[in-house]
Amino acid sequence: MPNAHITGWGMAVPQKVLTNDDLSKMVDTSDQWIREMTGIRERHIAAENESSASLGAAASFKALKMAGLTPDDVDLIICSTSSPEHIFPATACLIQDQLGASNAGAYDLSAACSGFIYALQSGAQAIKAGDANTVLVIGAETLSRFVNWQDRNTCILFGDGAGAFVLQASDKAGGIQKGVIHSDGSGGDYLTIPSGGSKHPTTEATLHAGQHFIHMNGKEVFRFATRVIVSSTNEVLKKSGWKAEDLRMIIPHQANRRIIDAAARGLELPIESFFMNLDRYGNTSTASIPIAAVEAAKEKRLRAGDKVVLVGFGAGLTWAAMTIEWTGPLLKPFEKHYINADWYKPWAFLRRILKRIIRWLDTFLFDRSE
Ligand code: ACO
Repeated sequence: MPNAHITGWGMAVPQKVLTNDDLSKMVDTSDQWIREMTGIRERHIAAENESSASLGAAASFKALKMAGLTPDDVDLIICSTSSPEHIFPATACLIQDQLGASNAGAYDLSAACSGFIYALQSGAQAIKAGDANTVLVIGAETLSRFVNWQDRNTCILFGDGAGAFVLQASDKAGGIQKGVIHSDGSGGDYLTIPSGGSKHPTTEATLHAGQHFIHMNGKEVFRFATRVIVSSTNEVLKKSGWKAEDLRMIIPHQANRRIIDAAARGLELPIESFFMNLDRYGNTSTASIPIAAVEAAKEKRLRAGDKVVLVGFGAGLTWAAMTIEWTGPLLKPFEKHYINADWYKPWAFLRRILKRIIRWLDTFLFDRSE
């Protein structure tokens, strides 16, 4: 059975930065309150022409470039997102098109802030089962589009961004080890966007009631998070036969510094064992773990051979943890294909037009109109 290795990674965040001081001009809050209660200083907010798919595609190009692969090498794209561009088509399909990944199946996965770990688990299973050789796992969010910018309980928390990992099959030891995933729908109403789905389709009434925005019971989510971040880390360590001392670091979902402080106390680990960058990005939901991993690797705090735990929690309620032996690119430099995103983007656009023309010709030539 092949192992699933993380051989490339990339991230993309919008250019626009919204600081706590900017927020204090919009709602009754302050930089001091936000920093003390959450640890967040600023977050990135998508411009009008940016979306979950465009950020996801930008992160993916970087991840593929690092792995030395082209979009055509990808067999499967899994996009974890809670802010998909549409109910359907899947954001993963839009990314597939933007990349020009013509050999890939693509689907979205919805497990909120735990989603990236759920998606890694699915991608690794596809590789281990022999169904795929190369999987692109993406976490992409533009939750700013669902935030009520007049609700100080939620608007201070969230930011936009995307991260992507390339998973590749190899007989080499290491890579993704064990995963644990959990859910408890009885707490679904603690963190929800009440309307816009099939239960409450958007109407004038739902709009007036602000049900298209994120609604959160912060205290309940906080209590839940501090409990499960400890229990799932312990569970996955036990399942892997690892000890906390073996770890190079834990990369937790970047929701709130106080939640991570509580996890450090619960696991009896120094806070330095936890990678944190939430001060600069806020809570980017499912994108937060890959964005943190990309920065940890860039800062050389995460290197090939390091043992690491990813742990996440979020709406659903969902929570998940995973052990990984970090790898890095498998291909030697001379074996790598150096892709140029600027070249691929126009090609993907051209390909989209050509595919539409071919579909039209197919209907016309083979009389498939009825
Ligand atoms: N600025 C200033 N004051 C505020 C703000 C603000 N932005 N927000 C709330 N307050 C006030 C409240 O009105 C309240 O005032 P009062 O005592 O006069 O009534 C006081 O501060 C305390 O408010 P609480 O909501 O009780 O504060 P709490 O200690 O719960 O902290 C927070 C709020 C930071 C949101 C916390 O509950 C939290 O982090 N929860 C977890 C949230 C989270 O991580 N969500 C994402 C999960 S991942 C996912 O799936 C997307």
